Amino acid sequence: MAEQLLSTAVHDTVPVCYVRPESQRPRLAEVVAGARIPVVDLACPDRAAVVSAIGDACRSHGFFQVLNHGIDAGLIGEVMAVTREFFRLPPEEKAKLYSDDPARKMRLSTSFNVRKETVHNWRDYLRLHCHPLDQFVPDWPSNPPDFKETMSTYCKEVRALGFRLYEAISESLGLEAGYIGETLGEQEQHMAVNFYPPCPAPELTYGLPAHMDPNALTILLMDQEVAGLQVLNGGKWVAVNPQPGALVVNLGDQLQALSNGEYRSVWHRAVVNSDRERLSVASFLCPCNGVQLGPAKKLVTEETPAVYRNYTYDEYYKKFWSRNLDQEHCLELFR
Ligand code: SIN
Ligand code: FE2
Repeated sequence: MAEQLLSTAVHDTVPVCYVRPESQRPRLAEVVAGARIPVVDLACPDRAAVVSAIGDACRSHGFFQVLNHGIDAGLIGEVMAVTREFFRLPPEEKAKLYSDDPARKMRLSTSFNVRKETVHNWRDYLRLHCHPLDQFVPDWPSNPPDFKETMSTYCKEVRALGFRLYEAISESLGLEAGYIGETLGEQEQHMAVNFYPPCPAPELTYGLPAHMDPNALTILLMDQEVAGLQVLNGGKWVAVNPQPGALVVNLGDQLQALSNGEYRSVWHRAVVNSDRERLSVASFLCPCNGVQLGPAKKLVTEETPAVYRNYTYDEYYKKFWSRNLDQEHCLELFR
């Protein structure tokens, strides 16, 4: 129901349906602050150094930030502005877009999967399919008036960046530069435009609980001022501090499988805070349904036998959505 949207009200208390049991709470005091996840400058003229830094980050963290990624700072500012404006629209305007059906290709929703979960998350989000753009943009919100144009320009740029990163990631695995792009084929692209309102009790709930991404590659535009993303590294939750101008990149399960387990799709989560709203825009590159996935042949040897079986994205995605977000790693079911 649209009245479940968090962004339509001001909250003095956290309703019980958002409260996690004691053992599942975020324990914010134990989070490592000030640690940096690897930063890669894509404008560095030493290509081999870029490739090797990306490979190291994929192995150690499954996450890295990119600087000089080629997406104009002005455009990024516009994406953030139009996102903020969208979530400030009047409730009746937002109600028209509300759906809790994950199969919908454009929907404004809340939490993660309200139909399945027992405890909700402190997040509203707009989920959009973005490729091919001319097929989906006509159904995107027409308010704010510049939403469609700003977001579609951003989608094109993010897609191009994603394919550049695929080349570097392929090379870092010792594969042909075109390997990932070609193997995953003409990929779908989805976007989650996230809004996390201030929460009166951030210790009790999550914006998004710990999860791993089911897709291939995620490029995250984070709020430049308000932190909230945390990544599990060395058994500890590490806060990712916003770094001006950077985009955050993380590997999803499909690249962990393709790398035969060498690279990692890692647990990450979004926490909330009591003072300030937080925005993020996550872009997901995902294989099409019928594409065959699994370890790259070249990476399967006598010493490194296949860790995962072959499967289709269809099979994987159905399994992912049939479960709760914070259960065991879905990829474990494909060993
Ligand atoms: C995500 O994991 O997709 C979103 C994380 C964030 O909002 O920082
Ligand atoms: Fe994620």
